[in-house]
Amino acid sequence: MRIGIPKEIKDHEYRVGLTPAEVRSLCESGHQLFIETRAGLAIGFTDTHYQEAGAEIVSSPREIYACELVVKVKEPQAGEVAFFHPGMTLFCYLHLAASRELTKQLLLSKANCIAYETVQDSQGTLPLLTPMSAVAGRLSIQMGAWAMTMANGGRGVLLSGVPGVAPGKVTIIGGGIVGENAAHIAVGMGADVTILDRDQAKLSSLEKQFGNKLKGVLSDKDMLEHYVRQSDLVVGAVLLPGKHAPKLISRALIKSMRPGSVLVDVSIDQGGCAETSRPTTHSSPLYIEEGVVHYCVTNMPAATARTSTLALTQATLPYVLALANLGLRQAMQKDNGLMSGLNVCGGQVTHAALTDDLGMGYQAADQALAELD
Ligand SMILES: NC(=O)c1ccc[n+]([C@@H]2O[C@H](COP(=O)([O-])OP(=O)(O)OC[C@H]3O[C@@H](n4cnc5c(N)ncnc54)[C@H](O)[C@@H]3O)[C@@H](O)[C@H]2O)c1
Repeated sequence: MRIGIPKEIKDHEYRVGLTPAEVRSLCESGHQLFIETRAGLAIGFTDTHYQEAGAEIVSSPREIYACELVVKVKEPQAGEVAFFHPGMTLFCYLHLAASRELTKQLLLSKANCIAYETVQDSQGTLPLLTPMSAVAGRLSIQMGAWAMTMANGGRGVLLSGVPGVAPGKVTIIGGGIVGENAAHIAVGMGADVTILDRDQAKLSSLEKQFGNKLKGVLSDKDMLEHYVRQSDLVVGAVLLPGKHAPKLISRALIKSMRPGSVLVDVSIDQGGCAETSRPTTHSSPLYIEEGVVHYCVTNMPAATARTSTLALTQATLPYVLALANLGLRQAMQKDNGLMSGLNVCGGQVTHAALTDDLGMGYQAADQALAELD
């Protein structure tokens, strides 16, 4: 199969869809790999590394998108969808619940689009979201601590405190992969950490892991308001897979926080969990609203693109091999979890969660696949 890897064009996005080592595995399985020049250069993967692994270097995205399978990282940006064609398979993050416009463009292109973030494994977890959630969770505390400094409009709290001065208060909403990894760093820094989740089993497992270094609280409206209001740093880390993030933090609640407190809304890629959240970029990551410093970058792992690429592509490679070796239809017939990743197929929305949020028609993925030419 002809497989293309474009250079990412989102703001400060330096991750790349496959490393040279993974390109080598695919070439050894008999596939033809095309990579856009300089796609991995910023993180130390040169064109020569890819050539030595067996790929052909091409100079324009048009040649990449002419391939049958395109493997990239972030959701398509303005201009990229123009290259898409019927029969092409796209494998990357999509976050369509947060973008009706992109969904419409993908439907018109008639390409078959698999979202990393809704692929499931046999336990029903999200193996292609997990590695980037681990990175984003760890970064959320790092970025939150930086946002809290005076020069950024923060209230000047050092999360760890110092002998004689209490540490900062961190509230993490959502105790999944982002939440657990945020807790790992916040606890390590010596902050006063509370994690809220509505799933008791998640809280029990966090308690086993962190003991009394972390308070686990069953989330309801009153508890959430109580902890958010007194926090120096709030991390938004909730997820309803495939759906728009629930708006758990109202504007009024943000307004009731102390001026200079910080919200890092990691769930911004699914639309954000605060009424005041709006997407920001690595070029301009912060804004202040109702006195609270907001960090709402939609591609946080790009900040540590080398680590992130290595973690992401280890997870995606088995799926890329399956798609390349078996073709789209057969790969999905063999793996229902991969089929859960199919969000758009041949001009149809094929992920049920999207139809609720976007109010668009829906066709079951297996039917849409059967109808492909
Ligand atoms: N901004 C970025 O760059 C970036 C990077 C990676 C992940 N993310 C996003 O971070 C979010 C979290 O991802 P994850 O992998 O940790 O998901 P996850 O499924 O592992 O965890 C989500 C948690 O939210 C909890 N939850 C759901 N609704 C809740 C509610 N009403 N109140 C309290 N808890 C609730 C769930 O029980 C679950 O434990 C997702 O939106 C994901 O796409 C963003």
